[in-house]
Amino acid sequence: MSELQSSSKNLTRIKLTVDLVIFFAFLIAMDPRSSGIAVHEWLATAALAALIVHLLLSWDWIVQISRRFLGRVNLQTRINYILNWLLFIDGSVMMLSGFMISEAVFPTLGIELPRNFAWRELHDMTANLFLLLLGLHTALHWGWVVDTFKRYIFKPLGRLVSFRRRKDVTA
Ligand code: HEM
Ligand code: HEM
Repeated sequence: MSELQSSSKNLTRIKLTVDLVIFFAFLIAMDPRSSGIAVHEWLATAALAALIVHLLLSWDWIVQISRRFLGRVNLQTRINYILNWLLFIDGSVMMLSGFMISEAVFPTLGIELPRNFAWRELHDMTANLFLLLLGLHTALHWGWVVDTFKRYIFKPLGRLVSFRRRKDVTA
């Protein structure tokens, strides 16, 4: 295997790991009553770092499409690009409003903000909108998700199971 192929394989593995981490962090963050507010806040703050990594891993794509957006870009990429901006704007407001109503992270850091119902409402609205946008974002990358799951999760698991069976038979 060439060096280029193996580094692109590694990049895909890293992307898959980061995407799974932010996906599950988001699922847990969507239900603060089950997790408790402290877990909600610290987990979402950690997920922010993982989201930044998610963007950095696609930085070349972002720069390329930003340069070409007004020129020749196919429709799906154009939709993808606009949706990514919506995700970015909504995600930023969701995080900001979360910090503005923080009951765990900010108080721990010694920052006390006055209670404001508008931030609470905004946080709720942007979280629900994020869920909708994330559904579309995932749908647009569904081919990638299925391919990568097959290649890096299901196939290695299948190989492991058949190896164990063979070992049991020969033992
Ligand atoms: C829970 C949150 C998210 C999940 C699970 C998720 C998942 C994915 C997946 C599976 C891909 C395709 C594989 C890859 O390149 O990693 C992808 C690509 C991408 N995502 Fe996300 N994403 C999330 C949030 C976001 C947000 C908030 C933004 C924008 C601020 C964003 C921007 C991008 C970009 C720029 C790409 C690559 C270009 C493209 O094909 O659209 N993602 N994401
Ligand atoms: C991935 C990012 C986040 C998501 C998806 C999210 C989602 C949510 C949801 C769905 C609620 C419940 C709203 C309701 O009960 O109607 C909520 C409440 C709340 N969130 Fe977040 N949130 C995120 C980030 C944050 C951050 C970063 C903070 C602060 C550091 C935060 C602080 C809070 C607080 C204090 C509440 C109010 C809990 C209550 O009074 O019941 N959130 N969030």
